[in-house]
Amino acid sequence: MRIYQAKDYNDLSRKAANIISAQIIMKPNAVLGLATGSSPIGTYKQLIEWYKKGDLDFSEITTINLDEYRGLGPDDAQSYYRFMHENFLDHINVNTNNTNIPNGLEMDSEKECGRYNEVIAKSGGIDLQLLGIGLNGHIGFNEPGTTFDKETHLVNLSEATIKANSRFFNSYEQVPTQAYSMGIKSIMQAKQILLIASGENKAQAIYDTICGPITPMVPASILQLHNNVTIVADTDALSLILKEHEILKGGQLK
Ligand code: GLP
Repeated sequence: MRIYQAKDYNDLSRKAANIISAQIIMKPNAVLGLATGSSPIGTYKQLIEWYKKGDLDFSEITTINLDEYRGLGPDDAQSYYRFMHENFLDHINVNTNNTNIPNGLEMDSEKECGRYNEVIAKSGGIDLQLLGIGLNGHIGFNEPGTTFDKETHLVNLSEATIKANSRFFNSYEQVPTQAYSMGIKSIMQAKQILLIASGENKAQAIYDTICGPITPMVPASILQLHNNVTIVADTDALSLILKEHEILKGGQLK
C-alpha cells in the first residue's frame, strides 16, 4: 500500500485526479472503475477542468461504476446514475455507450448481477478502481460481514449506511434499503486501486483498513492483500494513524 497524506480535501482531490490522469495518459482506452459519494466530487471536478483545458481525452475510456440503489433509476435525483451524469459523465467526452452503472430499476437481481458481471468481464478488466470508504469501512456497498468472494450482488444496506446516506435524501425513510454492488472479489481483480478519504469521521475506518486485521467486519481491510493500492487521505482522515506514529516515535502519549 502506498499512502499519501493530503493537506485538505482540495489537495486530496488534485492528487487523486493526477493519479487518474496518469492512467488515462498511459492507456487512453483504460477501463476506469468509478465511485459515488461526496469523497470523489472534487476529483471529478478537477478531471473535468483538465479535460476542458484540453489536457485529457476520455473518448476511448470505459467507465464501470461500483453500485446503484435498487429501485432508483435515471429519473430519481438520488440515483447514482444521476450523480455520475451530473458530477462527471455529462461534462467530459466519454462515449455514453461505454459508461456502465448497475440498473437499479431491474428488479430481477440475479439477472442484473449476472449482466453486470458480464460487463466487467467483457471490458477486459478494470485498470484503475476509484474507491471511497464508508464510516463502517464499507467499499462500494459491501457492508461489514460480507464475504470476500462475492462478485456483483444484491445488498441489504446496514442501518449505519442508511443513516449516513440519508443526508442526501429528504428523510431516512426515503433511503432505499437495498443496492446492487460490485463485490469484493470484483474490486480486488482491478489492476490498480485508488482509495480516497477525507475528514475526521473517516479516521477510524482508515486506521482499521491500514493497520487492523484483515476481516470481513472491515471490508476495506482486504485491500492490504492487493499488490497495487494507493490511499490518498487528508490529515484528518489519517489522524489516528499519525497519532500512533507520534506515540511510536516519542515513546509516550503526548
Ligand atoms: C456510499 C457509497 C460508497 C462510498 C460511501 C462513502 O455508501 N456506496 O461507494 O464510498 O458512500 O461516501 P462519502 O464519500 O460520501 O463519505
